[in-house]
Amino acid sequence: MRVGVLTGGGDCPGLNAVIRAVVRRGVTDYGYEFVGFRDGWKGPLEGLTMELGIPQVRGILPRGGTILGSSRTNPIKVDGGIDTIKDNMRSLGVDALVAIGGEDTLGVATALTDAGLPAVGVPKTIDNDLSATDFTFGFDTAVTIATEAIDRLHTTAESHHRILICEVMGRHAGWIALHSGMAGGANVILIPEVPFDLDQVVEWVESRFRSHYAPIVCVAEGALPREGDLVTKDATLDAFGHVKLSGIGEWLASQIEERTGKEARTTVLGHVQRGGTPTAFDRVLATRFGLNAIAAVKDEAWGTMVALQGTDIVRVPLQAATGTLKTVPAERYEEAMAFFG
Ligand code: F6P
Repeated sequence: MRVGVLTGGGDCPGLNAVIRAVVRRGVTDYGYEFVGFRDGWKGPLEGLTMELGIPQVRGILPRGGTILGSSRTNPIKVDGGIDTIKDNMRSLGVDALVAIGGEDTLGVATALTDAGLPAVGVPKTIDNDLSATDFTFGFDTAVTIATEAIDRLHTTAESHHRILICEVMGRHAGWIALHSGMAGGANVILIPEVPFDLDQVVEWVESRFRSHYAPIVCVAEGALPREGDLVTKDATLDAFGHVKLSGIGEWLASQIEERTGKEARTTVLGHVQRGGTPTAFDRVLATRFGLNAIAAVKDEAWGTMVALQGTDIVRVPLQAATGTLKTVPAERYEEAMAFFG
């Protein structure tokens, strides 16, 4: 059996740990050969490959990024894209595919399996917003980085009696903001699921000053004011139709300054949350996902994805992950609100 492996979408700490586990178990225990597809779906679409065997995966467990490269190429938008992928796989002698990615990448994997191409999926996103899995790897790393940033912002905010805003990733779901804001003791957390009332945010900020602390606002990039639109960087869309986010932090700072007369500044964590070495939790989760994904290939469980449920790794249909996003439930946000203001 010759198995193709690709990583698609935004990168995520732990991708290399998955690739390593897939290859190590596949070569050693199942006698498989591997082909690395470069840069997400661009690889099988354009026949861009790299050698992928045990020598290539040596030492990559703690490395951030992905040795295969990634992209947001969407073959469904390319004329005859799915058929080109099938032809390229046939001519490269690739029998099956392991697709490691988020909603978009796994959506394409679903379309490919429907078109008769044997594929299994591994869920990935720092946003933790894929359904059917309790956690995705990369999320714990992103939360750890954001929490450390918030810890650091506290001390400097207090020295200068300023409002400091920390903008974190989270397009449709506020998991990173919720977890890092709770862990870092932010006094306001704003998430996409709950449009915010600016007057209320200002009141929470003022109340923190009254108790002689400096306010830290943790805001997800996809959070939006109750009256108004999503604040975005520009209006261009990627191949999957996503607009570039970021800007809500700056907007909030100007609004808060105007209303309180106190200085407000914003730190945008951006891609720092996605770079660098994965936490131990993410390394273990990614490794277990990799081992189970190649076992799914061995069992010919096409159209499935590995998922974490409780402490078990299970197989679920690919559609279960991509059908609806896993957003923050109201009761989880309520818990965090106990510390606002
Ligand atoms: O999809 C994960 C994510 O991290 C989102 O939170 C964020 O909006 C997006 O990727 C940004 O990705 P990029 O800058 O690579 O387009």
